[in-house]
Amino acid sequence: MNSYQGFKEKIFKLTAIDLSLYKEKQMKRRIDSLIKRYGASSYSEFLVLLESDKAIYDTFINHLTINVSEFYRNIVQWDVLKEEILPLLLAGKSSIKVWSAACSTGEEPYTLVMNLSRYMPLQNIQILATDIDKEAISKASKGIYSQKSIENVPSDFLDAYFLKQGDNYSIDQSIKRCVTFKQMNLLRDQYPTDFDLIVCRNVMIYFTEDAKRDMYRKFNESLVKDGILFVGSSEQIISPRTFNFKVLRTFFYQKIQ
Ligand SMILES: C[S@@+](CC[C@H](N)C(=O)[O-])C[C@H]1O[C@@H](n2cnc3c(N)ncnc32)[C@H](O)[C@@H]1O
Repeated sequence: MNSYQGFKEKIFKLTAIDLSLYKEKQMKRRIDSLIKRYGASSYSEFLVLLESDKAIYDTFINHLTINVSEFYRNIVQWDVLKEEILPLLLAGKSSIKVWSAACSTGEEPYTLVMNLSRYMPLQNIQILATDIDKEAISKASKGIYSQKSIENVPSDFLDAYFLKQGDNYSIDQSIKRCVTFKQMNLLRDQYPTDFDLIVCRNVMIYFTEDAKRDMYRKFNESLVKDGILFVGSSEQIISPRTFNFKVLRTFFYQKIQ
């Protein structure tokens, strides 16, 4: 088994991650560089390492999934969410159902909590946050962050909800309580339903066009009537009407049926 095709099939059996739904050039480049780092000379040799060494397996999953995140990533869009989208969603409601899909190490769902807390008490906020990567989710539940990742957090939130611990900051229990983390593969698992807002940012960029189209349909089904999908900065949907969405603001799509 020395072809990338064969490797993808074995990886699917081993990890349930279907690499053929990720953009091939980019993914292959990442995998090849990791294989080189471990000194393996072929895909089969690397597979033996993956199957026998848990640390290498974890590094591989981590390498595949690309966990980079930060609080208030692309801050202008979070302002749009706070000033325009949340008031629209909250009209006539005291709380909303929110899903952070591909939440990585938690910066995104915790940013959502802080934004929602401008409109309602923390006790009313409950966010579902999912990611394929168990390790990322475990980090998210711990809620410890570097100085770099909290750079965009507004100072009133920093003072209220972050405690400095050495070089890092730990996020307050009152914020953590608002988020439920679960492992979920967006390319395989059944999508949860009835959300007013779904945030899925900086992950679709790694997927093939077919995989993305399938996800747009599923996100549409997961939203309530007039619900909104918030995507990442380079993830605008081409012809959103095909998927029963209309553009509300750049990067925000509203379900039209
Ligand atoms: C670059 S991070 C984005 C994090 C956050 N949404 C943000 O914008 O800062 C991409 C995340 O997508 C997750 N991911 C990759 N493939 C996935 C899949 N098939 N299902 C669910 N999550 C996936 C990775 O584990 C990673 O945490």
